[in-house]
Amino acid sequence: MLNFAIGVAKDAGRLLRDRVGTIIDIGHKGSINLVTDVDLASEKLISEAISTYYPRHEILAEEGGLTESTSEYRWIVDPLDGTTNYAHGYPVFCVSIGLEYQGEMVLGVVYDPMRDELFTAERGAGATLNNRAIRVSKVDELVQGILSTGFPYDINASKLTNLNHWANFAMNAQALRRDGSAALDLCYVACGRFDGFWELKLSPWDTAAGSLIVTEAGGRISNFSGNPFSNYKPEVVASNGLIHDQMIRVLARAVEL
Ligand code: IPD
Ligand code: CA
Ligand code: CA
Repeated sequence: MLNFAIGVAKDAGRLLRDRVGTIIDIGHKGSINLVTDVDLASEKLISEAISTYYPRHEILAEEGGLTESTSEYRWIVDPLDGTTNYAHGYPVFCVSIGLEYQGEMVLGVVYDPMRDELFTAERGAGATLNNRAIRVSKVDELVQGILSTGFPYDINASKLTNLNHWANFAMNAQALRRDGSAALDLCYVACGRFDGFWELKLSPWDTAAGSLIVTEAGGRISNFSGNPFSNYKPEVVASNGLIHDQMIRVLARAVEL
């Protein structure tokens, strides 16, 4: 199933790369939440491949929702993570495919077609980037760390904007980034490019594959209180483990801006 997921992620990634700059149709799921014809084409390719090879398996995909079945396998698919970047030609986006068995993540694949970078993980077997084992960074002080985050699509309509956490982390870390693809953010924690990542209001397809890639690379993932992470709950803090408690303390300090 890992080889299958890699093949499909690469096929979908090539579709994204080949169609950069050719978007025909941009729709709005919210005032700043976009969906393009390329999101839909990528999801069609992935969902059709899963239904062909594993017709009994369940699929949870961002644009199509849940296709229920009695199977204990559930594929969790983000056909294009980084749609806003994609729509502007900013070359940071990926395909993310995770597989759950009996409610637990067992494999994850994230493919960045612009850099030809393939991140994978299998439960208990470690994580890789282009077939080489990856590990999280060794930075153990927040002030030496580079962190990443994102902002929710309802930022203009909700009090939970993440701007308060952004301000607190800006004053306590070495540097912050907002790159626009939560799946790649998690993979970058896994391979040590980022030391930590936090975000709120994410969905299962944003985190499914990346959460396993982080833990299989030796990282830690939790909610904002340090309690167990779930793909079905909106908060995520991922780190190299060494700065995790420091990140939790900063998140607890949040004040409304
Ligand atoms: C989004 C990206 C972004 C994050 C958003 C996600 P999409 O996914 O991962 O980094 O900040 O919350 O929804 O909409 O591009 O698939
Ligand atoms: Ca996404
Ligand atoms: Ca998406």
